[in-house]
Amino acid sequence: MNSVLYCMEKLNKNSKLRQMDDYIQHGSTSCLKHTIAVAYYSIKLADRLGIKYKKSELIRGALLHDYFLYDWHDGNGRGVHGFTHPSAALKNADRDFALTETERNIIKRHMFPLTPIPPKCREAWIVCMVDKYCSLYETFNRKTAYEKVHTKTPDKFTELYKEIINF
Ligand SMILES: [Fe+2]
Ligand SMILES: [Fe+2]
Repeated sequence: MNSVLYCMEKLNKNSKLRQMDDYIQHGSTSCLKHTIAVAYYSIKLADRLGIKYKKSELIRGALLHDYFLYDWHDGNGRGVHGFTHPSAALKNADRDFALTETERNIIKRHMFPLTPIPPKCREAWIVCMVDKYCSLYETFNRKTAYEKVHTKTPDKFTELYKEIINF
């Protein structure tokens, strides 16, 4: 089974992961779709670089890096989203999962350099970079980003994944 899919299904149990499909990240891309893409391209980049890395922690951290679970466009006084959402995501993720230090660092530091403390492990650096790439892609392809990825269909994760690979 595909490793991102496997981690998603594990995380999906007893959590609010699917709720992320109800919130928009950029353009027409939901938070869930965004995090699937970040997880997928993070392992692609890590493999391309040929470095040693903790694969399941990289995937889990990437899938949870934006687990803040609210609509950040609603203007409901949570501070400036870019600065505050890593902590909100980490708080939720800590509540719902037993996280490793690597996973915590991925979530907490993914907005560097907007938040000034840099990542401290290679997995967190990778997510930090891939997140920026995906965010730009989603912002500049507002209507069509990952258009073949239908995250609203929970039993179609395998198909979804074949599609994201071909995007
Ligand atoms: Fe984020
Ligand atoms: Fe993100």
